[in-house]
Amino acid sequence: MKFSNQIVVVVGGSSGIGLGTAKAAHAEGASVVIVGRSPDRLDQASAQIGSRARGIQADVEHEASVETAFTEIGPFDHLFISAQDAATAPLSKTTKDKFRPTLDSKIWGALHIVKHAASRISSHGSIVFISGLAGRKGYSGFALAGAANAGIEAVARNLAVELAPIRVNTVCAGVIDTPMLDKVFGAQRQEIVEAIANKLPAKRIGKPEEIADAVLFLMGNGFITGATLLIDGGDALV
Ligand SMILES: NC(=O)c1ccc[n+]([C@@H]2O[C@H](COP(=O)([O-])OP(=O)(O)OC[C@H]3O[C@@H](n4cnc5c(N)ncnc54)[C@H](OP(=O)(O)O)[C@@H]3O)[C@@H](O)[C@H]2O)c1
Repeated sequence: MKFSNQIVVVVGGSSGIGLGTAKAAHAEGASVVIVGRSPDRLDQASAQIGSRARGIQADVEHEASVETAFTEIGPFDHLFISAQDAATAPLSKTTKDKFRPTLDSKIWGALHIVKHAASRISSHGSIVFISGLAGRKGYSGFALAGAANAGIEAVARNLAVELAPIRVNTVCAGVIDTPMLDKVFGAQRQEIVEAIANKLPAKRIGKPEEIADAVLFLMGNGFITGATLLIDGGDALV
């Protein structure tokens, strides 16, 4: 049990990659705190994760909400920041008001969290962010999402220096099978996912547990900091 007697906080832990990571950390012995906006989703997810899981409500876009949540959480060991309220659209349909959460939840959300969490993380602990391939490759409709993903990798590298000895790393994920794909691809989800899968060297999209595995590796390896680990089924190559 790699994380026995340790506390792992997963922001965005009530769905998708965050939920997969919370389950994996719990299975490795951790006590797990998941953070998200919807109390119902937090309750349902905590019940799925196991007896050492609890949910704390917060909206990462609002600093006061994040500060309250981390005051309640108290000292802990490892932090995974997965939350994002993401949307994609062609630039001609992208308005600042409607699409602000894509950037704000990812970048300002992460900064709010780290600002109020860092002093509570143990000196052997770590922070893991998640980015996506839209920060490195080009996809139609992903200009803003790409900026958020490229930005969070830069945030991580700079904080790895500022917060040392706390380690700070990023997982850069390819397309992963989560509820976010419903929002991004809408009614065409199945056909778009099949087309992506056929082009990938892995011949399928990824699973949340495959990203969780990488997050736990980054949390557990005491000599890795400032790194970005690409887990994409070979998407960056094609
Ligand atoms: N799925 C992919 O293909 C993929 C690929 C690359 C990178 N990523 C990244 O992976 C991360 C997780 O994505 P996912 O696919 O697992 O998404 P998901 O299934 O939609 O889960 C998102 C989680 O974040 C929480 N959340 C969203 N906005 C929040 C806010 N303002 N404050 C607090 N919590 C918030 C959600 O709960 P509430 O809605 O209840 O708040 C939920 O728990 C995202 O950062 C995404 O950019 C995903």
